[in-house]
Amino acid sequence: MKSSTKGVYTLPGNKEKLELLKKKNEEALLGGGKQRIATQHEKGKLTARERIHLLIDEGTFQEIDKFKMHRCKDFGLDKEYYLGDGVVTGYGEVNGRLVYVYSQDFTVFGGSLSETHAEKICKIMDMAMQNGAPVIGLNDSGGARIQEGVNSLGGYADIFYRNTRASGVIPQLSAIMGPCAGGAVYSPAITDFILMVEETSYMFVTGPNVVKTVTQEHVSSEELGGASTHSTKSGVTHFACQNEVDCIKTMKEILSYIPQNCEDDAPSYPYEMREDESREELDKLVPENPNHPYDMRAVVGGIVDDASFLEVHKNFADNMVVGFARIAGRSVGVVGNQPQSLAGVLDNDASIKAARFVRFCDCFNIPLLVLVDVPGFLPGTDQEWNGIISNGAKLLYAFSEATVPRITVITRKAYGGAYDVMNSKHIGADLNFAWPTAEIAVMGAKGAAEIIFKKEIAQADDPQEKLQEKIDQYTKKFANPYKAAHRGYIDEVILPSQTRNKLISGFKMLQNKVDNLPRKKHGNIPL
Ligand code: HXC
Repeated sequence: MKSSTKGVYTLPGNKEKLELLKKKNEEALLGGGKQRIATQHEKGKLTARERIHLLIDEGTFQEIDKFKMHRCKDFGLDKEYYLGDGVVTGYGEVNGRLVYVYSQDFTVFGGSLSETHAEKICKIMDMAMQNGAPVIGLNDSGGARIQEGVNSLGGYADIFYRNTRASGVIPQLSAIMGPCAGGAVYSPAITDFILMVEETSYMFVTGPNVVKTVTQEHVSSEELGGASTHSTKSGVTHFACQNEVDCIKTMKEILSYIPQNCEDDAPSYPYEMREDESREELDKLVPENPNHPYDMRAVVGGIVDDASFLEVHKNFADNMVVGFARIAGRSVGVVGNQPQSLAGVLDNDASIKAARFVRFCDCFNIPLLVLVDVPGFLPGTDQEWNGIISNGAKLLYAFSEATVPRITVITRKAYGGAYDVMNSKHIGADLNFAWPTAEIAVMGAKGAAEIIFKKEIAQADDPQEKLQEKIDQYTKKFANPYKAAHRGYIDEVILPSQTRNKLISGFKMLQNKVDNLPRKKHGNIPL
């Protein structure tokens, strides 16, 4: 700045320099201006800075590149500049632990991504990698800055590349708090977890207008790619949050279970052991009739520390339950069949859901607890044509590859290939427990009897009676955990009420486990 006195230019003094900084800071805080901030609020959305304020511990946020501006001179942009260029970036603490964050500012060119906007995000991603801490993206953007053309596309690719390089090294979490369209969806998609806000956020590769032109389908943004759609139908989002405050609260909760990076241990919290950790209610949980359902979440609730279960992908593939929990203060990843939905069968969605979660836990040193009640794989053309072979293999691969401590508890059915897949001893589980109600066999007694005694049943005077006799025979022989225990495939048959005690001691015993995969560039999981 230069000021003029009697035609002579004098340079500003220190006081003016300090004033200038103050003014610039004030200007940056306003983003696209008061009017656009008001519009953002009218839509029921917070601003980029308000979101950071909710996420980061008071007084710890340090902003980087606050004054960065775009370099585009086309389509009138040479006359329109905003300090920060539509994204607030920096670092701070969440519950005392370092995180890096970027928060897109919809009030500046609709949060659209310019070359410089992308540079800011890349800078904090590089810092996060160097310093081993999570990156959190708060997305609210109209996509590529249209005026910038390929510079913007290049910026996106720079981010995708870093997302991929950082995958498995530092945790990456994405909150979608507004539009996220076109190729912009691919950065969140590469990150570990996506959280969406109901009614105010959406994600799609092509929007409703393009859909109408190409496929003649009429669909709203919400229906095509809202939180409800992606949490139930596609499984793209792991959490559908009621509002932005809920979204950020959930983000903080996730962070409380996960380590800072792949070299770090999962966090553990002080836990004072009770005199008696047994849970008597579990002894009565499995119904007498093996075909009757029960809620696997009740088993989880009876095993993990009180109220510590954070379910992931709650509304997607509900025949599989996955989520984070704590056992005696230590983080574990829980994977369980859900007999209450489709009898807990393994299908395409359930296999993909569980495989992805297992891989996350293994990347970040979170031990796995696997609860098994599975009648097998779901038969049918829909399943076969949609790739149950490859998808089931994903889960098999994910467990087989996992080197974290792994404990399995078979509560009831463990039939067929699904027995092998669900963290069996044979694929590297460390401790395998079974409840006395466990049934470990190639298939259910009726199916088995019908196949192996087909001739005998057909020739019997009363085929129905013969079938029942053979079912009873097969049930007696295999509908229990003891055949597997005789072979050492089950380490111990335990009372359900003692499960928590066994897990506390099992995970403690395994806490220094060392297991390395053979040297390789990377495996080739059946995608
Ligand atoms: C530049 C943009 C912009 C963009 C919005 N704005 N999107 N500026 N590039 N992509 C600006 C608007 O001009 C407007 O500026 C302000 O942001 C707010 O936008 P509105 O349209 O008034 O807001 P709203 O009605 O809420 O609609 C939001 C919207 C819409 C749905 C996101 O703006 C929209 O459809 N934008 C274009 C989306 C798009 O096609 N993006 C490119 C996708 S392709 P003023 O000055 O009025 O405030 C892509 C490729 C990436 O992203 C590929 C990566 C591999």
